[in-house]
Amino acid sequence: MHCEASASLINRMKVIKTIEQMQFFSQHGKKLGKTIGLVPTMGYLHSGHISLIKRARKDTGIVVVSIYVNPTQFGPGEDYKRYPRDLERDRELAKAAGTDVLFVPSNKEIYPDGYSTYIMVEELSEKLCGISRPIHFRGVTTIVAKLFNIVKPTRTYFGWKDAQQLIIIKKMVSDLNIDVKVIGLPTVREKDGLAVSSRNKYLTKKEREIAPVLYQALVQVKRMVNSGESNSAKVLKEVKNLIKAKKIKIDYLKAVNLMSLKDVKKLKKKTLIAVAAWIGKTRLIDNMLIK
Ligand code: PAF
Repeated sequence: MHCEASASLINRMKVIKTIEQMQFFSQHGKKLGKTIGLVPTMGYLHSGHISLIKRARKDTGIVVVSIYVNPTQFGPGEDYKRYPRDLERDRELAKAAGTDVLFVPSNKEIYPDGYSTYIMVEELSEKLCGISRPIHFRGVTTIVAKLFNIVKPTRTYFGWKDAQQLIIIKKMVSDLNIDVKVIGLPTVREKDGLAVSSRNKYLTKKEREIAPVLYQALVQVKRMVNSGESNSAKVLKEVKNLIKAKKIKIDYLKAVNLMSLKDVKKLKKKTLIAVAAWIGKTRLIDNMLIK
C-alpha cells in the first residue's frame, strides 16, 4: 500500500471549517512534499463520489473532500433549500473511502458580506443546462476556482455524469492557467442504468421506476449509431419518443461536439449525447459519449 495512504488510514480524518486552516494545512502538506487530491462535492455522498475519493486516494498523498452546498449555482425557485444534507453520514462515508480532510466551510466563509467576484466561462456555460439554468455554471466555476485557491490541489476529480460541468472546469483551468490536473471519471450507475445522483433521493417509487428510461434512450442512440445511422435529427427524434412515452418532460436531448458543446448534424466519434429531463419535480441529467 502507498505509505501515505496507510498513514491516512491510521490517522483520524480531520474536519476543517475555515479557509485559513485549510490553506495552512495545504501549505504545510506541500512543504512536506505531498501531493493533494481534491474532490469537490455538495455532500450527500453516493457511490459516484466514493469512486472519485478512492481514485484520489490512489493518486495523491493527501485527499481533501469539500462539502459545500453552493448557493450561487442554484437559480431562484431551484432546490437549494431542500438539497439533501447529512454531514454525519457524509463523514462516515468519506472516512471509509480514505479521506484525510473534510473541508466543510460555511456560507459566511465562502461569500462574506460584500462578496462581488464571479468567474464565467463564456459560451460553454450558455449551452445545454445553461439555457434553463442561466446562472448555474457561473456559480460552479466561481466556487471551484475558490476551492482551487484554498486547497491548492495537485489533482482534482469530477464525474463524467456532469459532462458539461467537467468540460467547463477544464476550460477554466486552461484559460486561467490554474496549476491543477483535472481528472474525469466514468459515471457510476445503478443496476438498472440510472446514473447515481444525490437528486435521485427526490424521486417517488413510481418516478424511480421510470427514471432509467434516460439511460435506455442513450443506449438506443448508441445502438442506432452502431447499426450505421448517423443522422442526428432522425436518431434524436426516435429516442425522444421513447422518453415521452413515459410522460417525462424533456428539457433537452442533444447531440453536441464534446469540446464546443455545439449541436452536430452527424453522429460520430466525440459526439456527446446529453439529456436533461423532468421526472415529476426532479430534474435529472445524463449523457453518453460516442467513441
Ligand atoms: O458537482 C457538484 O456537486 C458541484 O457542482 C460542485 C462541483 C461541487 C460545485 O459546487
